[in-house]
Amino acid sequence: MRETVRRLDGILCDLAEIANPGARGFVVLDDDDLPMKVFVVRHDSGVRGYVNRCPHNRIPLDFKPDDFLNLGKTHIQCATHGALFLMGDGLCVEGPCRGKRLDAFPVTVLNGRIQCGDPRQTRVGQGDRHSPLDPPGKGTKTLNRSREK
Ligand code: FES
Repeated sequence: MRETVRRLDGILCDLAEIANPGARGFVVLDDDDLPMKVFVVRHDSGVRGYVNRCPHNRIPLDFKPDDFLNLGKTHIQCATHGALFLMGDGLCVEGPCRGKRLDAFPVTVLNGRIQCGDPRQTRVGQGDRHSPLDPPGKGTKTLNRSREK
């Protein structure tokens, strides 16, 4: 399946369309129609969005669309090098970019739908800031994870 193209201010998909644990890739278009590859990971503690780009080689993590997790579905995995990243915060725990983090892409879950968060909170290539996650499927969930140094 090809990546789904969405507007940066739009709905990505229904929460139920992503397995738990699971992941799905998207191409989001900004107001100038510039594309950015992102993906959403769903797991027991919530839903996270990340820019689909490894922090060390700056290439997409997936070979096949929506194939972002390792076999055990315990980590995000780089298909090129096998590097493993935590699903909850994008920290690389094994591989050539160990200690670095995936760039966060803010997403919100509202009424069972995953939508793009505030695009101003996407800070590609900069530090990291966290905010709490709400459990999947309950009310509004804003993942204001952005990167700052
Ligand atoms: S491109 Fe960085 S771990 Fe694969």
